[in-house]
Amino acid sequence: MKQWELQCSRCSAKLPFRYQDMKCTCGGTLLVSYDLNHVAQTFTKASLGQRYPSMWRYHELLPIHDPAHIVSLGEGWTPLLRLPDWESKLSLKRLWIKREEQNPTGSFKSRGFSVAVSLLKQAGATKAAVPSNGNAASALAAYAGRAGIQAFVFIPMDCPSLIVDECPMYGATTVLVDGFIHDAAAIIESGRKDQGWVNVGTLKEPGRVEGKKTMGLELAEQLDWTLPDVIIYPTGGGSGIIGMWKAFLELKTLGFISGDMPRFVCVQEEGCQPIVDGLMHSLGGTSAINTASTPVEERIIPNPTGMRVPNPPDLELLLSIIKQSGGTAIAVSKEQIAQATHSLGSEGISSSPEGAATWAAMLVLSDRGWLRPTDSVVLFNTSHAMKYAKLGASAAIPIIRTYDEFMLYRSI
Ligand SMILES: Cc1ncc(COP(=O)(O)O)c(C=O)c1O
Repeated sequence: MKQWELQCSRCSAKLPFRYQDMKCTCGGTLLVSYDLNHVAQTFTKASLGQRYPSMWRYHELLPIHDPAHIVSLGEGWTPLLRLPDWESKLSLKRLWIKREEQNPTGSFKSRGFSVAVSLLKQAGATKAAVPSNGNAASALAAYAGRAGIQAFVFIPMDCPSLIVDECPMYGATTVLVDGFIHDAAAIIESGRKDQGWVNVGTLKEPGRVEGKKTMGLELAEQLDWTLPDVIIYPTGGGSGIIGMWKAFLELKTLGFISGDMPRFVCVQEEGCQPIVDGLMHSLGGTSAINTASTPVEERIIPNPTGMRVPNPPDLELLLSIIKQSGGTAIAVSKEQIAQATHSLGSEGISSSPEGAATWAAMLVLSDRGWLRPTDSVVLFNTSHAMKYAKLGASAAIPIIRTYDEFMLYRSI
């Protein structure tokens, strides 16, 4: 039998494990805490070397007792691609991009929902609901479909249509909400008891952070048990940052890694940047890098992406991780993101706006000297461009019938 409990990230209180309601009475977020002496009995570098390439290779550090409860679609162990040309262009020691878009649901959300839905199965739950800007909704829909659990997804009405349309395809009851992700969350909270839904929203249950934690475990293993100097991550609710931080702490305690933690950079889109603003405020306006010169009252709320989360559920925890790591937060513009999508595209990488935002942030941080020639840097491409595609070819792509028309087009 594996052993774990919950521990409050704010007051350190310990509580027995449960699979929903992750708030401590002090207001802090409860996270899973493992008996690492127990884990160390089987979790060794040698044993990992023999395991299947999936995030479930780290099963001792995931809160599922019985392998029969694991709900998997083949998530994790995504490529870590090196970009040597850009290392020399930007004078970086190393540059990699973690290709999370290659997960089964086209985004890194597969990881969190594989664990969250496994926990639901372990607990015998039958209905789950999530508020989402799209990727979490489609991941819940897919994993719940596989587990035979009924999914209810609530999505802001301006979210990209392809991500929305995926959800009913997986069998989820899908609803568009005239509002933001927190308005969708409020609807779920209102109906939770009557409908018998487990709310699997960000930090509402333990599985999603634990699943995203595997990005950190995997990164360390793929880098032969070393850590990069800098992680640049597109941040909305922040469970990926919390998960990776937790991964590195657990690996340190297990003696797998040593040395400094990576400097975490949270990237947001200009106009919806609570982490950037929060960091500026808490540091007296010195450390967060805000490329936006727009005054608060003139800001325009950006199009929906995973970064558009006006009220992250535990901003305090996120800011403390950024500060402890020596990292920062940065807002990039829509134009910088569009430009970055093309730069990544010309490297052969299909990037979501969120993944492209990390590239845009890297360019700013390099330009400002925040990134140093001794730095090894990892960017997270958290989702696939396809998920944001509009149906029908872009008006910029010509339509021809003959070779002559092709030549005519080429000569313009
Ligand atoms: C593609 C993508 N990237 C990044 C994020 C933000 O992730 P986190 O909740 O870990 O901050 C999301 C969340 O919806 C997302 O869908």
